[in-house]
This record gives sequence, structure tokens and C-alpha cells, in this order.
Amino acid sequence: MRNAIRIVQISDLHLLGDPGSCTNGVDSAAVLERVVPLVNALAPDLVVATGDLTDDGTPAAYHRLRQLLAPLRAPLRACPGNHDDRQAFREAFGFVADAPLRQSLAVAGVRLVLLDSTVPGHSAGRLPEDDLAWLEAECAAHPDTCTCVFLHHQPLPIYVRWLDAVGLQHPDGLLQLLARHPQVRVVAHGHVHQPRRWRYGAQLVASVPALAYQISPLSQEPQITQDPPGFRCLEICGNEVRDCLYFLDGRVVPEPAWNATPIYIR
Ligand SMILES: [Fe+2]
Ligand SMILES: [Fe+2]
Repeated sequence: MRNAIRIVQISDLHLLGDPGSCTNGVDSAAVLERVVPLVNALAPDLVVATGDLTDDGTPAAYHRLRQLLAPLRAPLRACPGNHDDRQAFREAFGFVADAPLRQSLAVAGVRLVLLDSTVPGHSAGRLPEDDLAWLEAECAAHPDTCTCVFLHHQPLPIYVRWLDAVGLQHPDGLLQLLARHPQVRVVAHGHVHQPRRWRYGAQLVASVPALAYQISPLSQEPQITQDPPGFRCLEICGNEVRDCLYFLDGRVVPEPAWNATPIYIR
């Protein structure tokens, strides 16, 4: 796509502070060492990490994370997941103490918004009224600008019951906001450790594989699979969005076009 901006979304690294340690059998530090050159080769305009960057939320894990991500040539933005620790996250990514972990930035004419959907001490997510009001103001201020929203928790069910039980709670506020702002074309999330995809109104709502272990989309009980880690590359040109998945087994899988994506009907 000519003149497109390119965004790579990575998620759910679940890094531990202890070198050589694994989370559910996956050494995500080793995964990251393989992913960074692949991302650099794509020369994205921005890399967005959608939470669960660490598994244990320790300063040591964030220190390793910064070291492993340092060779990334593109700028990096991140939002937290339920496994992250807000204070350690703030220190790792240069946020002012007690500042909300929400961000809005423009990249080559596209607006990118990162939200903090975490609730300390809980696996499930929620967006407080204050954040929804902030997002409403951001969207109202840029009504004609193609916008992508990034957050950790899934706002739409993926029909894996135990994962949906810890998804974004009370998502109606967000979903109603999205209906008022069709310039939001993408809602990208993590948390589910598998690539899923819905068309909802004007939006593509999509998740990515984890950069740690993968979770079965077929089992209604927690089940780790041997599927490879991966990430998503989004290309946006005007209002047109194309995306594909890069897996660590070497596969590059173009995703269905927006109008060929299953429609989520509430
Ligand atoms: Fe996760
Ligand atoms: Fe999570």
C-alpha cells in the first residue's frame, strides 16, 4: 500500500525478571530476541505493545524488557495489562508518578490512542468513566482523522468462556462511544493470547498472538497450545486498513479484508 503508515502490534510478552526463566514453557526473552530483527526489517512507523509486558511486574523484569527492546529502531508505545505493575510500568516507560497511563499521538496523519484497561489486583479489565470521557474528547477533537485504539482487554467476546469472564467488563460505554465515532477504524487488543477478529460497526476489533505462550481458541478450559508466537502489522492509508500476522515459524498470513471479516452482532 503506497504512502501507508505501518504499525506493528506486539502483546503479552510475560517477561520474567529472572534470566533463563520460562512462563508456561516459553522463554519469552528468547522470543523477543528473534522478534526485534523481524520488526526492524518491516521498518514500521511505530511499535505498540498492548500489555502483559511482564509476567511478574517486578522492576527486574521491566529492566530486562527495556534491554531486549532497546535494538528496536521504531519508536515504542505501550499500554499496561493485568500482569503489569502500574508503578514499575510508569518508571520503565517514563510516565510521571500517578499519571494516567493513557496516551494519544498523531503519526503521519493517523491518530493512535492507547488506553489503560487494567484494574489493580484483578485479571478482568474496565475503563473508568474518566477515561471514557477523555477518549470521547479525543475523538471529538479529531472527527475526520483515521484513529486506532489500543488496549489490553477484549471489548467483544471471543467465546472462550473463561477468557471472556476476564475480558473488558461493562464494555457498553466504549462500544457506544465507538458507534458515535466511525473515524475509529481499528480497536487492537491483547490478553487472549490468540489472534481473533471481528467487524463491529465501522471498526475492526482484533487481537494478536502472544509473544509468550498461546491459548487454545477451541477449549473451554485453560489450555496452552504449541502454536508459535507472533505479531500483527497494520498498514493504514487514508481510511483503508490492511493487516497481516507474522508468526515465528516463518509464516506471514494476510488477514481477511475488513468487509470479509465476520460481523459481530449484539
Ligand atoms: Fe497475557
Ligand atoms: Fe492479560
